[in-house]
This record gives sequence, structure tokens and C-alpha cells, in this order.
Amino acid sequence: MKGQTGSSVIKPWSNGLIMLSILAILGFVISFANAEIHHHEFVVEEKPVKRLCKTHNIIIVNGKFPGPTLTVGNGDTLVIKAINRGRYNVTLHWHGIRQLRTPWADGPEYVTQCPIQPGGTYTYRFTIEDQEGTLWWHAHSKWLRATVYGALVILPKLGSPYPFPKPNHEVPIILGEWWDRDIISVLRQALFTGAAPNVSDAYTINGQPGDLYRCSSKGTFKVSVNSGDTVLLRVINAALNQQLFFTVANHQLTVVGADASYHMPFATRVIMLGPGQTTDVLLTANQQPARYYMATRAYASAQGVPFDNTTATAILEYKTARGGSSSTSRPLLPQLPAFNDTATVTAFENQLRSIPSEAAKVPTKIDHSLFFTVGLGFVNCNPGPRCQGPNNTRFAASMNNVSFVLPRRTSLLQAYYNNIPGIFTTDFPPVPPVQFNYTGNVPRSLWQPRFATKLYKLKFGSTVQIVLQDTGIFATEDHPIHLHGYHFFVVGQGFGNFNPGTDPTRFNLVDPPVRNTIDVPVGGWAVIRFVADNPGVWLFHCHIDAHLTWGLAMSFLVENGKGELQTIEPPPADLPRC
Ligand code: C2O
Repeated sequence: MKGQTGSSVIKPWSNGLIMLSILAILGFVISFANAEIHHHEFVVEEKPVKRLCKTHNIIIVNGKFPGPTLTVGNGDTLVIKAINRGRYNVTLHWHGIRQLRTPWADGPEYVTQCPIQPGGTYTYRFTIEDQEGTLWWHAHSKWLRATVYGALVILPKLGSPYPFPKPNHEVPIILGEWWDRDIISVLRQALFTGAAPNVSDAYTINGQPGDLYRCSSKGTFKVSVNSGDTVLLRVINAALNQQLFFTVANHQLTVVGADASYHMPFATRVIMLGPGQTTDVLLTANQQPARYYMATRAYASAQGVPFDNTTATAILEYKTARGGSSSTSRPLLPQLPAFNDTATVTAFENQLRSIPSEAAKVPTKIDHSLFFTVGLGFVNCNPGPRCQGPNNTRFAASMNNVSFVLPRRTSLLQAYYNNIPGIFTTDFPPVPPVQFNYTGNVPRSLWQPRFATKLYKLKFGSTVQIVLQDTGIFATEDHPIHLHGYHFFVVGQGFGNFNPGTDPTRFNLVDPPVRNTIDVPVGGWAVIRFVADNPGVWLFHCHIDAHLTWGLAMSFLVENGKGELQTIEPPPADLPRC
């Protein structure tokens, strides 16, 4: 905690020093007094919800879809009692929260906890340390996050401003994916057949597909503004399996943050977010008073792979246009990029730059230099109902040819903390077991991954670089890779195979963006860096749930540091049992 220097013994060297120390103590007390503790109950239960003119039961939190928005301050503590009244096991994850010393509150099932069974409860307790901006929370068990999610907004500490002009309005914009079926049955079908899961029936903005759909005009999400107002849109991609473009008709967007990290402002017409990512944009209502659509639809990078090609909308309406003729007239639709417009995605992502205070922390000396392939694979099987993947296979996915298998008896973190043998090994390969032309035509012999629960050990405090390399097994594809418990610098990205000789010379070590989820370019690579300063077991995975289910994941084991501040707290007494 900051200000702790003030609690050291005061030596009577000089009055000035004493004064300074008293001020430091006062500062500590004041900042401590400002930090709030937020208590919430999250009741997870099944409720009928109507969308696309049909009603079906979905799992939601506190009767709301999307679930409640958590608004907290940097430095605050959250105490959230999760009560499972649904019929499925569930866990909750606070996506992007670092969980320093509290990995027990992170949430991925069988990684940091066993799931909360129907009828059970578990209280998540954690403190937000030096994070500001937009994050979100979601279920991290099976595919329940399709409907179990909400925004998590972290405001600056009392009295400290945003690094941009204070907006008149702040609005979370949660992009989601809607199925007209029980999501667990969609998952079960995919697991049974081995084929790709059914694509969604619609996208949603704050839970609504928008008024391009019959039956949806009443519920369509609206943002009302006065001419001249500035709005901070906190855009979150909560979609289960799809990267999404987002834009607003006639209005420019100024990006000021991503993944709860402030970034240098830049203007753009369209943003793209992989599942898991957030982007904060400012919008100024400087157009003709009227109604304008905000719209989202797919960025689908894999060629020949089916996807949901629908469009969801919300409405930006100028209050002065209310009651006038424009309120009944159809809002203006924005132009969205083509589904496969990778050039627009690259141009957008290349503009993202960290602010100087963050940029100063980029690690320059690397202790662990890792190279992970990310992509799909196949398991050969006997033709039949359980073998419906391409050419009589079942889909799989892997990092460095290891397809990640979750334990069942206990969680990885409990196995580590309590020294339970036989749950995992720590021999995850730091480089691919075989080198090949990753993004080229990959020989079939390299398509079959190995299934295992392998962790990679990082020494506490060491610096880490990971090259993430997409593969062309099946199809090259953009993968949103998320690291739990950390955010990282994205020091480079490009297309084709990473070249260790020339590509590092073009790394951005000056002002690289800071993220917790990186979109590895389709048929390309991305390089991230971070300091392993958070002990625990941390899942590193593709945030496309179909890929995660197939095994596109691994976990880091960051060993306990010495000294109080780096030590994992003991597990909470109500930690669920498997
Ligand atoms: Cu958004 Cu593993 O999580």
C-alpha cells in the first residue's frame, strides 16, 4: 500500500523530516479513509427473458440482463457474496482485476477454485490496487458467461481527475452474443459431435439486439444527449465467440483507454474489440440534432468459417430532437467495415499508445523468453456421430501443441498451495516442440495436439516476454489471448511467422499499449512483456470460449514471493469443494 513509508520510525534528524513524515502519515490515513468497502450479493438464477420475439430461460444475476454494473473507486475493496440458485455449477471472474495476494478471488473454474454448486455460496473479496477505467465481470464456468456478465467501472481516487476533460455522461456499452437456445445445450452439442458450436442468433448492446429486429424497438438501448455534450462510452466485448467492430453514425470516437489502462488519445471512426477487451472512447455530440445508430457486427478473420453476420444497434439521440419529427424518423445507420477487414483492425490497433507514466515501466531485460504457438488442431476418430469435425475429426486447440485439460478433483491453485500431487506438472514447453512454417500450409502430422495439465513456472519478480504465434492448422485466425492476474505491454505485432532476427529491432519499448487481452493478428504474431510480480496460478487463454473449451490455454505458476506484500493470502474458509 502506498504511503507506508510514513509508518516507519521517525528519527529526530530535523524538524523538516518529521513534518514530512507526519504529512505522509496524514496522507496515508486520508487515502485509506477514502477507500470504500463495497458489499454486494450476486444471486445467480434462471429467469425467462424475451429476445427476438421469443422467451427462454437464461442464467442471470439479480434478475438483470446484463447483470449489475459495479462502480467502484481505485483503492476500494469489493466483497461480493455469490449465491448459486441456478441449476449449473458457476464461478465469477473479475476480468482484468489483478487480484494481488488474493488469487482465490479470481474465479476461473478448476484453476483458482472449484465451482459453486447449485445451492452453494462463495464470497469474493479483493482490493483494487492502481487500476482505473473499464473492466467487467463474468461467469468463468462452462459457457455461462454468455448471459452472466456486467460492467466493472473503476473511477479515479477521490480528488484525482481523468487524464482527459470530464465527460457529461458515462455509459457502459456491453456487446454480447445471444442464442435462442440454452447455451449449455449448445455447448453439450458441440462437445458431443466434436464439431464447431452453432453460431449465435444475434448480437446485443447492453442485452438488446436493437430495433433492426421486430419486437425489439421498445427495449433498444438509448443514450440521450444535449448538443455539445461529451459522452464517455465504456465499450466492453462480452461476446462468447466473436470479435466485434463498433461504430456510431456520423460521430468520431476518441480512444482514451483500453483494458483499464489510460492511453494516449486518438480519433477513429470505428473500434474493434476481441472478446474480453474493453475500450473507452469519448464522443462529442457535435452533429445535427437527430438520432444516430450505434452499431456492432463481426470481425471474422478466419476464411471459410461460419459466423453470425447480423448487426446489433443502439441509439444515440439528441434531446432537442425528441418530440420533433426526428424522433420517429429512422436513425442514421453507420458504415461498418467489411467482415474480413483486417487492414482496418491493424490500423486501429497500431494507434494505441500508453501514457508516459505507464510507458516508463516496460521491462527491457528479459528473464523468461517464451514462444507459444496458438491455434486449432484435430483429433482423429472413427467416423460417426461423435466425429463430426472436418474429415472425421474432433476439433481441439492448443498452445505449443499442448491442449489444456482442467483438473476435476481440486483447483490448480489449491493443488499448488496445499502440495497436492498428481494434479498438474510444471513442464509446459517454453518453445514449440517442433518448429514449422506456422502460418503456411501445415503438414497433417502436426495437427494433433497432446492433452495435458501443464503449467509453466515463473520466478517471482522475473521479467517475461512471450511471442504469441498464430498457426494455420485448419485456418489462420485472430485469437484474443487473455492473461489472468496481470496486464502486459504489447511491444510488437505483425503478420506471417515471427522473425527473431529482425522483428525485435522494431519493438516499441517507448510507449507500447497496456492490455490484459491481446488480439494476436490473423496469420501473425504478437509479443507481450510483463513482470511476474503477482504470485499465484494464472490462466492464460483464448477468450473465445469455443477455443478455450478445445484447450487453447495454459497456466502460469508464479511462485510465492518472500515478505508480507508478495505472499498469497490463505484460502477463504468458504472456498467451494469439488
Ligand atoms: Cu474474461 Cu479467463 O476471462
